[in-house]
Amino acid sequence: MTTSTSKLSMENLASLCKRRGFIFQSSEIYGGINGFWDYGPLGCELKRNIREAWWRDMVLNREDVVGLDCSIIMHPRIWEASGHVGGFTDPMIDCRSCKKRFRADQLFEELGIEPETGSEIEKKFKLPPGTKCPACGSLELTEPRAFNLMFKTYVGPVADESSVAYLRPETAQGIFAQFSNVMSVSRQKVPFGIAQVGKAFRNEINPRNYTFRSREFEQMELEFFVKPGTDQQWHDYWVEERMRWYQSIGLPKESITKYVYGKEELAHYASACVDIMYAFPFGVQELEGIAARGNFDLGRHQEYSGKSMEYFDADTQEKFVPHVVEPSAGVDRIALALLCNAYREEWIPKEGPAVEAEPGKPVPEGYELRTVLRFAPRVAPVKVAVFPLLKNKPELVAKSREIFTGLRRHWNCFWDQTGAIGRRYRRQDEIGTPFCITVDFQSLTDNTVTLRERDSMQQVRISLSELTAELDRRMG
Ligand code: GAP
Repeated sequence: MTTSTSKLSMENLASLCKRRGFIFQSSEIYGGINGFWDYGPLGCELKRNIREAWWRDMVLNREDVVGLDCSIIMHPRIWEASGHVGGFTDPMIDCRSCKKRFRADQLFEELGIEPETGSEIEKKFKLPPGTKCPACGSLELTEPRAFNLMFKTYVGPVADESSVAYLRPETAQGIFAQFSNVMSVSRQKVPFGIAQVGKAFRNEINPRNYTFRSREFEQMELEFFVKPGTDQQWHDYWVEERMRWYQSIGLPKESITKYVYGKEELAHYASACVDIMYAFPFGVQELEGIAARGNFDLGRHQEYSGKSMEYFDADTQEKFVPHVVEPSAGVDRIALALLCNAYREEWIPKEGPAVEAEPGKPVPEGYELRTVLRFAPRVAPVKVAVFPLLKNKPELVAKSREIFTGLRRHWNCFWDQTGAIGRRYRRQDEIGTPFCITVDFQSLTDNTVTLRERDSMQQVRISLSELTAELDRRMG
């Protein structure tokens, strides 16, 4: 398995994300709220690019997948049928003395205690006598209990048991609940998929690692319905597709790995599950789970709703409840992985190539520090920045504005006319803009501009008539 070797400090990354407007603490002016995050102007562009890349590759570029957008609050019976009301829990242990609440598996890991095997929380996470609270040192830790992660609310003016509803903890169940409607309108035949992107909510006991484990997050889920017996072949297919997709958005092959579940780790209805993992600075962690879930979900909704979820195969004249393969990814985790992967601190000499900065060491004589986000152009929040060489020369500004307006029709562009050109390049490097265009006096006479590439910092002179095509080629 890949180990995390990154020298990146999460503090440095979080500081850049705040300073440049990627990620803010939610409700910061009131002291923040644990497990919730806001995305600033650049962060929401990054997330939008992730969603759009996923939607393009999973829905628009395929003929066998259609989209859906369900409500966040649905009938509470959905969550009974899915098993979330009864079993969507994490094991929890409290400290009666300092009131700190721990997720039992994380507490065991922190204390270096191996949990018992089996699924019964009370037995699996029973603490050895004399275990001290790692926060306050008291002996007041409670027995382990199951804690349901769903956020509860009430629908309508009366807050009683009859009006209880839940914020969805996953987008998947909306897809299962609408399976028959989508099936009847989309003229699809099994095998086919239904995709959905949207918010999900989990009252995580211990949100941590920046945005990695949040209480409100966004999922991109595909339910791919297949003929019983073809589950394995489709599961293998989707694992490979999804591994390729992560590379297409700029995560290097060596940074992503598969975690293949053993038979004993699988839910009773699942025949296979693979997690796609990324080597974050805080450890190798899940970006996406791909599970072959049999016909458990459609079967349960058929049972609980009394409505048929069967599919009639006109070719074989067979009726069956389709099985499903589910690639389920998180937008926020992918955004965090892309930020971690992109972040670099480099030492730049007056001439010659940049070298990676050595953590904790001062910048050597004759070098300058540059912080750069090496995003793949496909996900970069800003694709092109346009600068007039000088802001007090109206002819340069007019020409640059014309170029800026033209390029904006194709890509998200940034206009900057203040400060020395070198400083403007650095500002763009820090937000990961792959290309900068500078308009100078030569541009006024021969219609050429300077095109500067972020990673190599190389500049070429290019004719305006070729600029859009060249940028398009370089965007990949
Ligand atoms: N329908 C299947 C499902 O929801 P999951 O493994 O619980 O499976 C899928 O979640 C993905 O959603 C995860 O791989 C992760 O990317 C994202 N995710 C889950 N919980 C999250 C959390 N608390 N914060 C951020 N992302 C989360």
